[in-house]
Amino acid sequence: MHGEPYDDGQDPKEKINYKAAFKLLLGLARARKIEFAAAFAFLVFSTLINLANPIVAKYIIDTAIPAGDRTRLLLAAGLYFLNSALFLLFNYFMSMRLIKTGQSIVVELKGRMLRHMLSLDLEFYSANQVGRLNARVQSDTGALYELFTETAVTIFKDVFTFLAVFAIMAAYNLRLTLVLLPLFPVIFAFTWLFVRKSSPLFVAVRKMTAGLSAFLTEQLNGIGVIQAFSREAGTAAKLDALNEKKFRTELKGELYVVFFFLSVLFLHPASTAAIFGAGGALVLKGTLTVGVLVMFILYLGQLFDPIFRFSEHISIIQRSFSAGHRIFRILELKPSITEPARPHYMTAVKDCIEFRNVSMRYAPGSGWALKDVSFRLPKGSSLAIVGETGGGKTTVTNLLFRFYDFEKGKILIDGTDISRISLKSLRLAIGLVQQEIYLFPGTIMDNLKMMDANIPDAKVHEAVRLMGLESFFTKHPLAKAVVEKGANLSIGEKQVIALARAMVLDQEVLVLDEATSNMDPHTERLITGAIKHLQKHKTLIIIAHRLSTVRNVDKILLISDGEIKEEGTHAELLAKGGVYSRFYKLQFGEN
Ligand SMILES: Nc1ncnc2c1ncn2[C@@H]1O[C@H](COP(=O)(O)OP(=O)(O)OP(=O)(O)O)[C@@H](O)[C@H]1O
Ligand SMILES: [Mg+2]
Repeated sequence: MHGEPYDDGQDPKEKINYKAAFKLLLGLARARKIEFAAAFAFLVFSTLINLANPIVAKYIIDTAIPAGDRTRLLLAAGLYFLNSALFLLFNYFMSMRLIKTGQSIVVELKGRMLRHMLSLDLEFYSANQVGRLNARVQSDTGALYELFTETAVTIFKDVFTFLAVFAIMAAYNLRLTLVLLPLFPVIFAFTWLFVRKSSPLFVAVRKMTAGLSAFLTEQLNGIGVIQAFSREAGTAAKLDALNEKKFRTELKGELYVVFFFLSVLFLHPASTAAIFGAGGALVLKGTLTVGVLVMFILYLGQLFDPIFRFSEHISIIQRSFSAGHRIFRILELKPSITEPARPHYMTAVKDCIEFRNVSMRYAPGSGWALKDVSFRLPKGSSLAIVGETGGGKTTVTNLLFRFYDFEKGKILIDGTDISRISLKSLRLAIGLVQQEIYLFPGTIMDNLKMMDANIPDAKVHEAVRLMGLESFFTKHPLAKAVVEKGANLSIGEKQVIALARAMVLDQEVLVLDEATSNMDPHTERLITGAIKHLQKHKTLIIIAHRLSTVRNVDKILLISDGEIKEEGTHAELLAKGGVYSRFYKLQFGEN
């Protein structure tokens, strides 16, 4: 169950599960062993080549030039050029491999997250902001992209280069190498300070980015309400405040970056000067050749590259672990409603649907949404559920579709417990027109087919004809574009389309939750006529506030406060003179 919001790292005290994150990252890398090995091989070649060049320079200065040997000089210069060209070529191969591998990891991971999220309970989505989830899928997988294209491989190169440069220098002249020793504590202190100061800021910035995206998504979804209540200024002010806070934090972080880079940048000429000074003195004394001095200067440049990148590596690794942790947290969530281990497949209801003393609450501590609800719905019959707002009508259908689990009682279909029935087969066998209608961007035709291109057009035309809706779909041609959330259609029109959508799928059991509540009397009569026609061979559950819609059903349940208060046919309930008859009289003004 996912009652509480999935923690996306909002809690600063939340401990990152390094082990789980590492396992996830390692698993992703392992699946691409060959690609990483190839990239690594190119990296080893390019690093070795790069390390060789200063030695070639030393050879030119100390050997080829003093010997006055033109051929050797030209050969050495050519080798220097060839080395540099090969270095670029190998780097190109390596980068291409890594980019391709990184991209494929991100694509795979996004797909895995999306598929997993599609399986999570509706409860998960009522507890988590869609905008935040969206930002997570995008930015967390993005963070791993950097890890796999940059850090994972280059960090080896950097550590190796750093050590190798020192080893070569020491081999040529230990005294001069020792001059660089004070560099270590200084660089270590700078890096440590930088990472400590800046990384919490960047963590905060990423959270703020996710928060901003969530806020924007919510506000834009409710744009109509915002405009109707003239709250644009308030929303803009909140957005400004969020942006401003993010800006300040980011700026502070970037200032640390600049400070760090400039400091390290300064250390380069400072140590160059030290080498020139100390090395120059050794040259004057005759214990060092000019070639070795030049070689040291060239190596210094190579030494600073990894130093610059080191802080970047650290922050990418940190970011990757927290992203990996959050991805893992989503992937580890288990939907509580899943396919049973040994599912019973159903294609249609053969005998009856039965609720037996069902009690349900949405959250453990909250009140009961349904209390001891029992009813039988034989195949081919029709049942209406009526009653007060918030009484529990939609909850009944939520349980029938297993959108939520319940605590007490049983729901049986042909005597089989609903929890043993294959979830997919259950939902395919029962059609639903929900109270809140959602249409997808596309054409009306796409929506009628529920985006399933395998459904032939003829099936749609047949459903439209059966329901007598030809004139409606002349006014709104099947090719008409539906915009996001069906915003270019009226609510009643959306209801007609949703009903037609259910008819196209033509399931034997159909649940209509307030499916005609926004239609004009003419359209409603047309639709109820069609439903009545279908009633002959369909099993129907109709939820409605307008009692005219339910007069002809086989049985009516009146639910209030989660309990069935009255049940019977329209005539029986009227004769009883209870709540139903009061409701009816209120609606039709009969005395
Ligand atoms: N996802 C949910 N999480 C928590 N509580 C919920 C949820 N959905 C409904 N409820 C609560 O359960 C009760 C029954 O809701 P339900 O949607 O079944 O009412 P209804 O009879 O369909 O009402 P209406 O006629 O307004 O559609 C209400 O008190 C409602 O606040
Ligand atoms: Mg409802």
